[in-house]
Amino acid sequence: MIIKTAEFVMSNTELKKCPEANLHEYAFIGRSNVGKSSLINMLTNHSKLAKISSSPGKTQCINHFIINKNWYLVDLPGYGYAKVSKTNRALFSKMIEEYLTKRSSLVCVFVLIDSRIPPQKIDLEFTEFLGIKGIPFVLVFTKSDKLSSSALNRNLNTFQNEFLKTWEELPEIFISSAQTARGREEILSYIHRLNTDIDLSLLKIT
Ligand code: GTP
Ligand code: MG
Repeated sequence: MIIKTAEFVMSNTELKKCPEANLHEYAFIGRSNVGKSSLINMLTNHSKLAKISSSPGKTQCINHFIINKNWYLVDLPGYGYAKVSKTNRALFSKMIEEYLTKRSSLVCVFVLIDSRIPPQKIDLEFTEFLGIKGIPFVLVFTKSDKLSSSALNRNLNTFQNEFLKTWEELPEIFISSAQTARGREEILSYIHRLNTDIDLSLLKIT
């Protein structure tokens, strides 16, 4: 898929203030600092579209970007950021939970996992939450430029084995790097296919 335009639409903390749910929508989520905003910039070829920071907790709202004036990418705050106060953390998770469970046009959630580290409980718990709620998701292993291909394969295998302790099968898996643009074509083709195949009017979340 060719990205012709990518524009920031709005940033907010409430589902009811999000844009009308009339376009296919894809949300990016994962632990703080995993590279959600960087991946959005890499996919859209806009280095400054989503705000990036080396300190965790940069993205704190639901951010909508419209791509090719035809579908939405959504940048979400990270989960598991210890330095956000407890009150804020509860608010974040309530905001994220409400968005994920009630956004009727949400086609697929991209769960980002740092490819450098062993399986994290919070990532596995988050995918279980999505499973229980029946929310479709895929996995994206980020920052693949930061480790050798043998270390990457080892970590992927370990994660998949851990994942298969609770799931019968693996979801779609992508490997990405915001530095080298690895994974860009694969992820955009996948989104293109869903845009074409999924009839929004049939997507009803109860
Ligand atoms: P929060 O919004 O704080 O939850 O973080 P985020 O998940 O949006 O991460 P962000 O994109 O802001 O990136 C965090 C840090 O990781 C930044 O310093 C990025 O430059 C770096 N980073 C992100 N993706 C990659 C990648 O693929 N390769 C490398 N080498 N660095 C990356
Ligand atoms: Mg971010």
